[in-house]
Amino acid sequence: MVRLPVTSKTVYVCSQCGHTEPKWTGHCPDCGAWNSFAEEVVRPTSVARRRGAKSDHTVAQPISLAAVASSAVERFSSGIAELDLVLGGGIVPGSLVLVGGEPGIGKSTLLLQALDRISRDRPTLIVCGEESAAQVRMRAERVCASGLAALRVLAETELSCVLGVVAAERPAVVVIDSVQTLYTDDLTSAPGSVSQVREAAGRFLRLAKETGTAVVLVGHVTKDGAIAGPRVLEHMVDTVLQFEGDRNRFFRVLRAVKNRFGSTNEVGVFEMTEQGLKGVSDPSRLFLAEGEAQPGSCAFVAVEGSRCFLVEVQALVSASELALPRRVATGFDRNRLAMIVAVLSRHAHMALASADIFVNIAGGMRLEEPAADLAVALAIASAERGVPLGSATAAFGEISLTGELRSSSQPHRRLSEAVRLGFDTVVMSQADARRARTGTAAVVGVADIRGALRSVQRHPAPRRQEARQNTEG
Ligand code: TYD
Ligand code: MG
Repeated sequence: MVRLPVTSKTVYVCSQCGHTEPKWTGHCPDCGAWNSFAEEVVRPTSVARRRGAKSDHTVAQPISLAAVASSAVERFSSGIAELDLVLGGGIVPGSLVLVGGEPGIGKSTLLLQALDRISRDRPTLIVCGEESAAQVRMRAERVCASGLAALRVLAETELSCVLGVVAAERPAVVVIDSVQTLYTDDLTSAPGSVSQVREAAGRFLRLAKETGTAVVLVGHVTKDGAIAGPRVLEHMVDTVLQFEGDRNRFFRVLRAVKNRFGSTNEVGVFEMTEQGLKGVSDPSRLFLAEGEAQPGSCAFVAVEGSRCFLVEVQALVSASELALPRRVATGFDRNRLAMIVAVLSRHAHMALASADIFVNIAGGMRLEEPAADLAVALAIASAERGVPLGSATAAFGEISLTGELRSSSQPHRRLSEAVRLGFDTVVMSQADARRARTGTAAVVGVADIRGALRSVQRHPAPRRQEARQNTEG
């Protein structure tokens, strides 16, 4: 048999999902992205390494699960309560965490603040590829309470060098800001390309497991919200945190998209201030409108993990000039909005067919719970009539295609939170009303969307007038 010499070979890699093709193509057959393929050269050494590794397989032996030493996950606090909550109770030694978010959202600020707190008891390290050490110092002067001496920073982007320093220093936590700036000469592709980012994450994964250092990788996200290129990273890391919110507003939401050490339901809420990010323990105050209720606004009682808070849903209904009226949703699923509009037209006989409808969740919050349906429907109905619901009305419940209301999780907690914040009308499904019954007069149980619309017409009107008389008098 004739053996051909192994030479480097060119492949084309999708920058969205990491799929490889031998030839350039405009459309990724795996993730469907357009124009996402970039050329990369694969060195034969990696093939040889993999072949060599094969012979080692005989050494490994499977063992009984009972013989595996059980180690309860020990964690340490990041010093930031909201971050600990999202991580599932704190930082796990030897874990690999990916923090994603748009540029300017506050990733560097949050992690700097966390390292500031952690460095009081444990060694830490910041690897800054995006900014100079001087820039990091400038920010630290503003946001770090414990002084700068304990914070150690490394301005370096060559992967082996960074790994070498981390292995020698053995910090409890190292933050790589960002993973897209690292590169290794073993690969010919540019920093930030799929192979570079994947290689960096793979080697940090090994380092984390071997040394027990918790590694936090910062990753940018693209316009459509995916962590750029390294969607492949999501499979490798233990935890993926997503930092979201409206960059032009002052608050931010941190979510766990994946977590091997905790639940993914939790959200952390932060406020961006002059002194960096501050945790918000009572988010309802941030997301609720103040003052008198306006037409097109309805409060929704949200449950996110262990948190329960109220969010304002806003709607605008206006006569459309277009043949195909617009349905625009910000912070809410567009298909869900179309469904709610159809239910309102069909089952509540509202004339919405030739109206533009806009729905916005206040403050850049994103709602994924189906329980938000009812608040969206009531906000649209209120906008269409031009009549406010009354400042003291909140709602939750999933709407089915038949117009009936379905029950939601934890109605009792939602009710208590709404009552705590002074809401005196809380509209929900009849099933939830039975489950949540606490003897409060605020509970309004309704069977379907028509009942819900009737109930808000009847309840708030007199109260709103009282309020107006009071302010006038
Ligand atoms: P940054 O952490 O640099 O964002 P990222 O690393 O995600 O790109 O945060 C940048 C924004 O935060 C910047 O626009 C300014 C604002 N900011 C404050 O409002 N207060 C502060 O104390 C700091 C440090 C930043
Ligand atoms: Mg940054």
